[in-house]
Amino acid sequence: GVYLSSFTGEAPPDLPFSYAGIAERAQQALSPALWDYVAGGAGDEWTQNANVAAFGRYGLTPRMLSGAAQRDLSINLWGIDLPTPLMMAPVGVIGVCTQDGHGDQAAARAAAETGVPFIGSTLMQDPMEEVVGHSGDTPAFFQLYTPNNRDLAESFVRRAEAAGYRAIVVTLDTWVLGYRPRDLAYGTFPQLGGACLANYASDPVFRALLPAGADTAAIAATWAGLFGNPALTWDDLTWLRGLTDLPLVLKGVCAPEDVRRALDYGVDGIYCSNHGGRQAGSAPALDFLPGVVEAAGDLPVIFDSGIRSGVDVVKALALGATAVGIGRPYALSASLGGTDAIVHTLRCLLAEADLTMGLNGYADLATLRTHGAIRIPG
Ligand code: FNR
Repeated sequence: GVYLSSFTGEAPPDLPFSYAGIAERAQQALSPALWDYVAGGAGDEWTQNANVAAFGRYGLTPRMLSGAAQRDLSINLWGIDLPTPLMMAPVGVIGVCTQDGHGDQAAARAAAETGVPFIGSTLMQDPMEEVVGHSGDTPAFFQLYTPNNRDLAESFVRRAEAAGYRAIVVTLDTWVLGYRPRDLAYGTFPQLGGACLANYASDPVFRALLPAGADTAAIAATWAGLFGNPALTWDDLTWLRGLTDLPLVLKGVCAPEDVRRALDYGVDGIYCSNHGGRQAGSAPALDFLPGVVEAAGDLPVIFDSGIRSGVDVVKALALGATAVGIGRPYALSASLGGTDAIVHTLRCLLAEADLTMGLNGYADLATLRTHGAIRIPG
C-alpha cells in the first residue's frame, strides 16, 4: 500500500489529512440540507458525539524494541483474505455527496484501488449489479434493510448472490428512520426521489408492486410503504438464515445478551454499531465492544461508530474487533472529489493505523489484541 508520512518529499494532494479538515471542506462543498443529512444524527446528537468521545477513554500501550518494522494488518474473514481490517460501512444514498450521483460506484472503485471492501447499502443509487462491477478484485458485501415484504427481501438476497457479493449484512437498528431534528427541519428531502431508489426500482419484485406508469413520486411512496419491518423479531432470523449460504452478519447488535442469542441462529458475524448515532439515542458504541467480543467467542466482530482516525482504528482492534468500518469519514470525502478523495482518506487512515501499530511496537493484530488497549480512568 501507499503510506503517507511527514517529509515524503512529494507534493501533497489538495486534500486534508485529518477528519476535521475533511469535514470542514465537505461542509463548504455540500448544500446545508445534504451536510445536515450526512453529518447529523438522532436527537440532540449526544450519542454521535459520545461515540467519538469514547475513543478518548482508551489509550494504547507503547512497547519498545519489539521489532515492529514490518507490520501485518491482514485478516481472514469467512475464508476471504483481506489486506487490512478496514471497511467502508454501508452509507445509503451516498450519491447525493457526489457531483454525478454515482457515489456507490465511486466507493466501489475506491475499494478496487485500496483493497478496502465496500458494503453496499440496500439504498444504493444504482442497481447493485452495476455497483459491484466497479469493485475490481476487492470483495464487496451487501447490506440488507429487511423490507416488510418477504419476497422482496428474498429477491435482494438472490440478486446479491448472483451479482457476486460475498456476505449479507442485515441491519437491525433501522426498521424506521430515527428522530433527526436537522432533517426534520427541512420537512422534505428532495434528493431522496425516485432516482435515489434505483436499487429498489430495478428489482423485479419491487417493480411488480408499483402502480402502472409509476412516476418518481409513486416509486418513493411504494418504497416508503415497504422499507422497514417493525414486526421483525428473533423468530424471523431462522427465515433470514435460511435465505442464503453466504456469511450472514447482524449489524446494530451491542448487548452481549443479544450476541449470545444470535449464536443460536447460526450467524457468521456480529456487527457492533449504533449506526453512528443516527438511529436511537444510546450509549457510545465503543463501550459495548469488549462485551460483544467476549460474548461472540470465535465469531468475527465488526465495529463502527465514531472512528475518525487511524489511532481510533487501532484502538477498536485492540479492544477485540476483527474489522472496523467507517461511515462519515468516507461519505464526506466523496464530496471532495469522488473516488480519488475516498481513496485519499482510506490511505490516510491506513497509514496512520499502520504507523500507530509500528511505533507502538505491535507487528500484528494478535499481539495488539492481547496487550494493546488500556482504559484511561476518569
Ligand atoms: C449510514 N449508515 C447506514 N447503515 C446501514 O446499515 N445502511 C445504510 O443505508 C446506512 N446509511 C447511512 C447514511 C449516512 C449518510 C451515514 C453517515 C451512515 C450507518 C453506517 O453504516 C455506520 O454505521 C455509521 O456511519 C458509523 O458511524 P460513523 O463512522 O459515521 O461515525
